[in-house]
Amino acid sequence: MNRHHIAARVAGLTQSEIRAMTRACNAVGGINMGQGVCDVPAELLIKEAAKTAIDSDISLYTRFDGEERLRRALAHKFTNYNKVNYNFENEICVTLGASGAFACALTALLNAGDEILMFEPFYGYHWNTAYIAGLNPVPIPLAPPDFAFDVELIRSRITPKTRAILVNTPGNPSGKVFSRAELETIAAICIEFDLLCLTDEVYEYLTFDTEHVSMASLPGMRERTVTMGSYSKTFSITGWRIGYAAASEPLARAIGMVNDLYYNCAPAPLQRAVAVGIETYGPEFYTDLAKTYRKKRDIFCELLTEIGLDPIVPKGAYYVLADNRRLGAANAKDAAMKLLHESGVAAIAGSAFYTGETGEGLLRFCVAKSDEDLARACDQLRNWGNKH
Ligand SMILES: Cc1ncc(COP(=O)(O)O)c(C=O)c1O
Repeated sequence: MNRHHIAARVAGLTQSEIRAMTRACNAVGGINMGQGVCDVPAELLIKEAAKTAIDSDISLYTRFDGEERLRRALAHKFTNYNKVNYNFENEICVTLGASGAFACALTALLNAGDEILMFEPFYGYHWNTAYIAGLNPVPIPLAPPDFAFDVELIRSRITPKTRAILVNTPGNPSGKVFSRAELETIAAICIEFDLLCLTDEVYEYLTFDTEHVSMASLPGMRERTVTMGSYSKTFSITGWRIGYAAASEPLARAIGMVNDLYYNCAPAPLQRAVAVGIETYGPEFYTDLAKTYRKKRDIFCELLTEIGLDPIVPKGAYYVLADNRRLGAANAKDAAMKLLHESGVAAIAGSAFYTGETGEGLLRFCVAKSDEDLARACDQLRNWGNKH
């Protein structure tokens, strides 16, 4: 390979730790609790809706920002669940997952060299996507176990180049759910320093005994916030690639323009199927979903405590960060490899989510597994715990 043929902004990147761990896990036939793939089957209703859409020849490009039925369904969801009104006609753009929403928003709204604040631990894709968009991500440490932030530290990291702050609530990998008061504090900073707020809410329905608050619903924030989400996690359809960005009209227009240029539109029949899902499911579908994941979280956190890999019990999303020191490894990657080889269960090294040392003491497990796989993983880890 001639390195001169690779763009400088990409040459410095390695493919995500998460994918590398998946390969290592497959090589030993292990149980993959590393990748954030929810491997429970998609709902029958949605699958049938997708088949019907294909059979009805919904196979052409939709409007660049998504088919009307899905945009209307999303606007309705925003009003009822997120408590913020977006006009389906010009303030919602259907994208290729929340990942597509983020990439388009960065390209549409920020300039190369701009700084974007990101709470740490962060989702690696956020960090690296910002990097390849030519931005400089700046970490704001969240202190475990409750992942509180220091408002003075945020202020101290703001420079004349700072243009935006990213909020991910509920957060991956921390499971942090930002409280209303915390969001109000961040909102006040955004207003004071005239920052954009990009908010990734893909786990919006997965909170445990805590309300989900959308930044855009706070006073003064709708005009400077881009709300990003998707149905990857909610409907267990990570491979369908249906997500969205919602923002005030000028921002949404710019995001839509980039989405159009890069992708034309999201997959047409799958947009329709997601619209049918949103129209059909009542609130109990989403509360049941949270209950299901809460149960998985509780089972797994109990097991981690039992085997001495102490968990930081998450308030939302479907990941658990755990203390890896009991493995006695030199760093988090070695700890993850050791655990995989000794127990047959794959986790992700905590270092994938931090710029500094903090992540070296952590592992991240994804509990979005079927009950059978989760039980098998618990058995294997319990056996490991008994032997080591
Ligand atoms: C915080 C966060 N945002 C976005 C994504 C990707 O979502 P999508 O499939 O909608 O692109 C993930 C997936 O793990 C995630 O954890």
